Amino acid sequence: MLKSNKWILATKFEGEPKHSNFKLEEEDLPALKEGEFICDAVYLSVDPYMRAFDYPVESCIIGEQVARVLESENKDYPVGCLVQMYSGWRSRSFVNAASRKETEEIHLLKVPDLGEREPSLALGILGMPGMTAYFGFLEICQPKAGETVLVNGAAGAVGSAVGQIAKIKGCKVIGFAGSKEKCDWVKSIGFDHVFNYKEQDIDKSLKEAAPDGVDCYFDNVGGNFTSKALQHMKQFGRMSVCGGISVYNASQPVLTPDPFMTILFKQLKVEGFDVMRWETRFPEGKAEMKKWIDEGKIKYRETVEEGFENMPKIFMSLLKGANIGKMIVKA
Ligand SMILES: NC(=O)c1ccc[n+]([C@@H]2O[C@H](COP(=O)([O-])OP(=O)(O)OC[C@H]3O[C@@H](n4cnc5c(N)ncnc54)[C@H](OP(=O)(O)O)[C@@H]3O)[C@@H](O)[C@H]2O)c1
Repeated sequence: MLKSNKWILATKFEGEPKHSNFKLEEEDLPALKEGEFICDAVYLSVDPYMRAFDYPVESCIIGEQVARVLESENKDYPVGCLVQMYSGWRSRSFVNAASRKETEEIHLLKVPDLGEREPSLALGILGMPGMTAYFGFLEICQPKAGETVLVNGAAGAVGSAVGQIAKIKGCKVIGFAGSKEKCDWVKSIGFDHVFNYKEQDIDKSLKEAAPDGVDCYFDNVGGNFTSKALQHMKQFGRMSVCGGISVYNASQPVLTPDPFMTILFKQLKVEGFDVMRWETRFPEGKAEMKKWIDEGKIKYRETVEEGFENMPKIFMSLLKGANIGKMIVKA
């Protein structure tokens, strides 16, 4: 009988995740029947949403991975085939591809042929984070050439793609990131202005880079940054509320000045989203992103760390800013 390892949530997160929140367990995998297969993790994704979501203690930590089929009773998924799916933090997964319900829950896909490129891209720029940037920015902010776009988390998987899409659309782009190395990279991929939010004053930086105000604000960070950024929006500006990583570890609600009067007086359009809203349109978004990558218009980076056994440590380091571009775990 084949066995798998999985990381489960041992205790609910309170504040910053700690090693004691995670427990490694072994599980037995059943013998295969028609339509089923077993696959080994090759690359696993760690993402900020794993901290933001509330899920039950004892359950496997949620997440997407790229895996290679090891044993199969399903002709559509032969041995050696690469798949991507939300099977959680598991070293080996049992998949019943014949069961429509389960397939929908794990969003099972074959990894497309990426040529010379690593299949980990299917978890990053050509996967969920890339789609978050593509649809979350274009659909909600509706940018127009000549407009000024603000994006924080600018060196991350989503933010770095948003800024480059904004440049493709002819916008002026202002980014904020958390280190000199990150800011240098963000500048090198075409952002017009980049600031280190840990060292530079946010208001002063925005006054300097956007004296006439910001048209589109793509927010990955929330909290204090957003209270300040809203003051710099133009009338009828648009804000895409993508994430709030600065408040995910907060055990108490974060008190910032009430944003609604600013939204009212500036007549802003503010919309939150879950990227899976556009799941049926992902093929369109992935094709466009791949074209831009092939044309050299979009650059990407990955921070690849090794070892399934190190998943909690790598996840915790992501929340502290250890990554440039997409954080990936090589199993
Ligand atoms: N709505 C959706 O459907 C959706 C989908 C995907 C992602 N998201 C959200 O999008 C955001 C970015 O996700 P990602 O996958 O691209 O992650 P990421 O930006 O690649 O990695 C997280 C980064 O957040 C920054 N960070 C950590 N603590 C911070 C703080 N207190 N203040 C400011 N920045 C902080 C760190 O960079 P620095 O060193 O620059 O601080 C860190 O590297 C997250 O909020 C995530 O939850 C939303």
